[in-house]
Amino acid sequence: MSPLLCKSIQLCLLLLLPAIRVYSRTDPGDLRALRDLAGGIDRRSIRNGSCLATWDLTFALDPCDRLFSERFTCGLRCDHLDPSTNLSRVTEVTLDAAGYSGSLLASSTSGPWSLPHLRTLDLSGNSLSGPIPSALFSDLPRMAVLSLSTNSLSGRIPDSIASVISLEELYLDGNSLSGPIPSAISNLTKMNRLELQSNQLTGSLPNLTSLESLYLLDASNNRLSSEVPAALPPSLVELSLRENHLTGTIRASLGDSSRFLQVLDLSHNNLTGAIPSTLFDHPSLEQVTLSNNNFTSVQSPASRALQGSKLIALDLSYNELGGFLPPFLALMPKLSALSLEQNRFTGMIPTQYALRVAGVFGPVDGAARFERLLLAGNYLFGPVPGVFMRLRPSSANVSVVDNCLYRCPEIFFFCQGRDQKSWAECRRFNPVIP
Ligand SMILES: *[C@@H]1O[C@H](CO)[C@@H](O)[C@H](O)[C@H]1NC(C)=O
Ligand SMILES: *[C@@H]1O[C@H](CO)[C@@H](O)[C@H](O)[C@H]1NC(C)=O
Ligand SMILES: *[C@@H]1O[C@H](CO)[C@@H](O)[C@H](O)[C@H]1NC(C)=O
Ligand SMILES: *[C@@H]1O[C@H](CO)[C@@H](O)[C@H](O)[C@H]1NC(C)=O
Ligand SMILES: *[C@@H]1O[C@H](CO)[C@@H](O)[C@H](O)[C@H]1NC(C)=O
Ligand SMILES: *[C@@H]1O[C@H](CO)[C@@H](O)[C@H](O)[C@H]1NC(C)=O
Ligand SMILES: *[C@@H]1O[C@H](CO)[C@@H](O)[C@H](O)[C@H]1NC(C)=O
Repeated sequence: MSPLLCKSIQLCLLLLLPAIRVYSRTDPGDLRALRDLAGGIDRRSIRNGSCLATWDLTFALDPCDRLFSERFTCGLRCDHLDPSTNLSRVTEVTLDAAGYSGSLLASSTSGPWSLPHLRTLDLSGNSLSGPIPSALFSDLPRMAVLSLSTNSLSGRIPDSIASVISLEELYLDGNSLSGPIPSAISNLTKMNRLELQSNQLTGSLPNLTSLESLYLLDASNNRLSSEVPAALPPSLVELSLRENHLTGTIRASLGDSSRFLQVLDLSHNNLTGAIPSTLFDHPSLEQVTLSNNNFTSVQSPASRALQGSKLIALDLSYNELGGFLPPFLALMPKLSALSLEQNRFTGMIPTQYALRVAGVFGPVDGAARFERLLLAGNYLFGPVPGVFMRLRPSSANVSVVDNCLYRCPEIFFFCQGRDQKSWAECRRFNPVIP
């Protein structure tokens, strides 16, 4: 057909439409799902220059057809050709973070999005609101990555998410999701990243030990109120449950169950009891943050078990830890940042700590220097260690303010900011203080 025959634009389109149908490239089922997805987006939120602004929302043009490459310029990938039909299948929908609002409930139907070849669905960084529909997940058998991060989604995480057994990465962080984390998530055995932080999730963390590939779990900044799990997936490398309402103790088995764990953050909870030694003689842990809890003691490991320790940073500040400063901490070869602020420690500052700050290594050959040693807000008494006097402010971050030290002149940077506690308060806490 020659365009010269067209009498008007409208007529031209009318004459061309059947041709488009004939050359349709996109599988009709995928087309329906895309139409549903786009139909949920509030059109007024689609700004010029965004991906969706290039989508033909009437879907009169074929999204996977290269002929229309000035349309559907981004947000979509169709790189699977179905050999039985010669039609393209949608493999990825990654919308830009362009401030789209609307919901995941399709405008036309609320049936499942049937996208059997979809591997990635990423709608993160927008303003989508409303629930995550349960029906959404029933026909996404190849989906490996689902990101709905940083939107305004609310309601529960549907149990049906566990039917996407191919899922490897799930990002639901930064929404307003509430209710429990579905225990059916333990069926998603291919999962390797699970990010649920910054929602309003309640209840307990399900038993995830069956997720044998999981290496990152972040459920921080929620309202989880269970105990810390006794066992973690063996593959876990990074765990954050910071800022929840967790109670109870950390079981020794936690350290034993996850031998690859490098980062552990359980700060800002309501944990109590002893910090188990399995966190200190652990073969992989590099960073342990347990500040702002209610721990009362630290269990010392056998000192010969510390040689292989990888621990670099330990933060136990703002707890109820008492007794003497644990001598074994000065034997941890890689430790360079130690915060024990705002506890109930007493006794003198151990010489071994002071030597580590000064870079004189004592019993541990080649040990790292303590670049940070924060001891403020305890009941430590006696003199300031002599080697501290030679420290320059730029060489280390050290503070011993708000203790019961005999003298801590303001000319030393590690004494600046707050005075020592009053003699009366120190005696009240510890009558043997001289
Ligand atoms: C968006 O683009 C359309 C057509 O290209 C134009 O008419 C409109 O003014 C643009 N809107 C804004 C907000 O730039
Ligand atoms: C798909 O296209 C190929 C090459 O154009 C052709 O040989 C084959 O018959 C087509 N298959 C179907 C199911 O149409
Ligand atoms: C999870 O697995 C258990 C047993 O393996 C099964 O009973 C349950 O129905 C599964 N849940 C989902 C949502 O697939
Ligand atoms: C967690 O599940 C594993 C099997 O996947 C089981 O062996 C273990 O006992 C469970 N732990 C708890 C605390 O239920
Ligand atoms: C610590 O525990 C005590 C007694 O169990 C409780 O009264 C207090 O509120 C707890 N502190 C915090 C910060 O949770
Ligand atoms: C911590 O737990 C104690 C007792 O278990 C309770 O009295 C206290 O209110 C809790 N604190 C917070 C901040 O949840
Ligand atoms: C020392 O470290 C603490 C904790 O990270 C930090 O808040 C403080 O600013 C540091 N001080 C200096 C002088 O670097």
